[in-house]
Amino acid sequence: MPKAATQIEYNLPIPNELRPLLPVTKRIMIDTDPGVDDALAFLLALASPEIQLEALTTTQGNVTLEKATANALAVLELARASHIPVARGSLLPLVEPLRASAFVHGESGIGNSRLPQPQAKPVPGHAVDYLIERVLAEPGELSIFPIGPLTNIAMAIRKEPRFASAIKELVIMGGAILERGNITPQAEFNIYVDPHAAHIVFHSGIPITLIPLDVTHKCLLKQEHIDRLMQISSPISRFIRDAVEVYLDASTQLGYEGSSLHDPLTLATILAPELLTLKEYYVDVDISGGVSMGKTFADIPNVLKKPANMKVAMQVRGAEFVELFLQRMEDLSRRITD
Ligand code: RIB
Ligand code: CA
Repeated sequence: MPKAATQIEYNLPIPNELRPLLPVTKRIMIDTDPGVDDALAFLLALASPEIQLEALTTTQGNVTLEKATANALAVLELARASHIPVARGSLLPLVEPLRASAFVHGESGIGNSRLPQPQAKPVPGHAVDYLIERVLAEPGELSIFPIGPLTNIAMAIRKEPRFASAIKELVIMGGAILERGNITPQAEFNIYVDPHAAHIVFHSGIPITLIPLDVTHKCLLKQEHIDRLMQISSPISRFIRDAVEVYLDASTQLGYEGSSLHDPLTLATILAPELLTLKEYYVDVDISGGVSMGKTFADIPNVLKKPANMKVAMQVRGAEFVELFLQRMEDLSRRITD
């Protein structure tokens, strides 16, 4: 007799025959360039019973592909979730040169964290093929949360014409609409690193929700929050402290009052959608190669008379999201102790 739904632990592999007995959870794959805030997004997903984290696929971005893949494996190991598959993705953007930056995320890509050497290995093959295989195997069932440059997603769209109609939705951390850029005065980092990939994705017809800097800059993790988490002695709370240290320094040097929870905020679309105000806009990205390369812009007045191609989060109750994040991190820290 299958276990009652209430007895299922967080994020253990769930046999398909059990799924009908479970509370509704969202099955997601995260495409990622870990990255401090990427790692915090993994932890939030793992701490949340509303989410079934099906896989991580890696790309260059904050760090090189090798570091991104090693970091993804190591963070899953730290969180005792090394059963979750990790697939290695794109080494380079489609057209632009590699721009990995150690300033914000530290040399390792995850600040000063001391991560365990992962035992698990990436699944064989390329992340683009992994994404195509998973999405085509269960059409309409799987959402992808890209929280790094969109190279893997664009390549999957181009390689397999059925991909765009089989995927449930994309929830993308990226872009800046009314907010200034964070890597150039105009552009946000994920889009800027591979603007050509973003252009393919934005015009693919896939249902998209965009989580831009306009809202992520209102979800700031501060030292006082780290101090609160450190009330719980856990490898998780210590990891967050060590990972965020570099990110917090870089953020304050860049004039922000704290570290933006860019990537974790994408999960608010599942965990607390009422905290976000979404607007349907036609959004495009500049690939003309000039000073605004990678700039995302929304046709808010609808002067182009083009149909909206995405929902864009334009407002957020930031303090409430940070509180939700902290409570889930406290839960996870209490569950994973020394
Ligand atoms: O601009 C913020 C985004 O760029 C985040 O995803 C961060 O991890 C970096 O990839
Ligand atoms: Ca990221």
